[in-house]
Amino acid sequence: MRNRMHSIRLAALALASFVANAAAQTMPTADFSIVQPILAERCVMCHAGEGAPLGLRLDDYASLMKGSSKEPVVKAGNPAGSELIRRIKGESQPRMPLTGPPFLSAGEIALLERWVADGARPAGETVELAPQAAPTWADVAPIFASRCAKCHAQQGIMGPAPEGVLLTSHADALAASERARIVPGNPDASELMRRIRGQARPRMPFDGPPFLTGNEIRLISDWIEQGARDSQGRPADVPAGAAVRLHGRLEAGWRLDGLGLEVGSGTRLDKGTGPGDYVEVRGTVEADGGIRASRIRPR
Ligand code: HEC
Ligand code: HEC
Repeated sequence: MRNRMHSIRLAALALASFVANAAAQTMPTADFSIVQPILAERCVMCHAGEGAPLGLRLDDYASLMKGSSKEPVVKAGNPAGSELIRRIKGESQPRMPLTGPPFLSAGEIALLERWVADGARPAGETVELAPQAAPTWADVAPIFASRCAKCHAQQGIMGPAPEGVLLTSHADALAASERARIVPGNPDASELMRRIRGQARPRMPFDGPPFLTGNEIRLISDWIEQGARDSQGRPADVPAGAAVRLHGRLEAGWRLDGLGLEVGSGTRLDKGTGPGDYVEVRGTVEADGGIRASRIRPR
């Protein structure tokens, strides 16, 4: 009981400071540390371990973001579309926590909604909400220059650029004649993103660790998300029809680490390939930046 009061007090305090900061227009975004005590207190008694209902574990950030065996329960930036929020508000039945009433307080629900609205970020990743200009090539080029170009240049320390990937100019980085490694607007469909996050192996930079910092990875992700703009701020075109080769973990519902793949009769699927496998996906970029898979095979 003491713990519970404590976590609720913390939540109330956090909410109060959000409100105060909001007035001052310097509101930090909520990160996972804000909501973790509520989940630990009210949800983890059931949603943990092998027997977690619907496979939904809420005991750490990665499991929460993975979601249930049916679906991801948190859609970053979209509280109304997130099953977790719908359950705690009773918009989806049975209402959570299943032990309720009491259900969560209005303040606790507001915090969880706030966290999802702010992008469902992991702990420690707070950023200022102040509106910022979309990042451009000028913002990310120094990272590529210092951490990648020693190899990914016409002539690097390993000879010609590995896999033909040049990271020395905007045009070269976006080149998609062989295949696209950056899909403007879709970081998850960008093999470059997968390599720097370590979802695709070998992780980049090849000579890491150290790998890129969380801030560097987020900056590159934001840059791609907001159109992989050139130094003048012009968004790059989506290379519709270009080939891609992506690596990552296959999940239920034809998702590759959260990226929904278009899979149909034209998709060749190697026998025995299923959720949980580390796979190579070959496919093409659709006009909307989605990925139509032509072949999926274990690696
Ligand atoms: C007493 C055990 C128990 C507690 C405590 C509990 N849950 Fe659940 N939860 C369940 C069960 C059982 C189901 C499956 C119900 C169903 O058939 O939809 C479920 C389902 C869910 C789902 C639906 C998953 C999906 O894919 O549709 C979400 C989201 C969820 N719980 C979130 C929470 C949250 C958030 C809390 C804490 C605020 C919580 N639960 C507390 C037992 C519990
Ligand atoms: C020390 C040399 C080296 C450095 C530094 C390096 N790479 Fe690489 N990179 C490689 C090699 C070698 C491969 C091929 C590895 C493989 O897939 O077997 C590769 C492959 C890649 C691929 C995969 C291309 C494809 O089409 O599959 C991408 C994307 C990539 N690197 C991006 C980066 C980025 C971004 C950085 C900097 C953050 C970086 N690399 C730093 C050597 C390097």
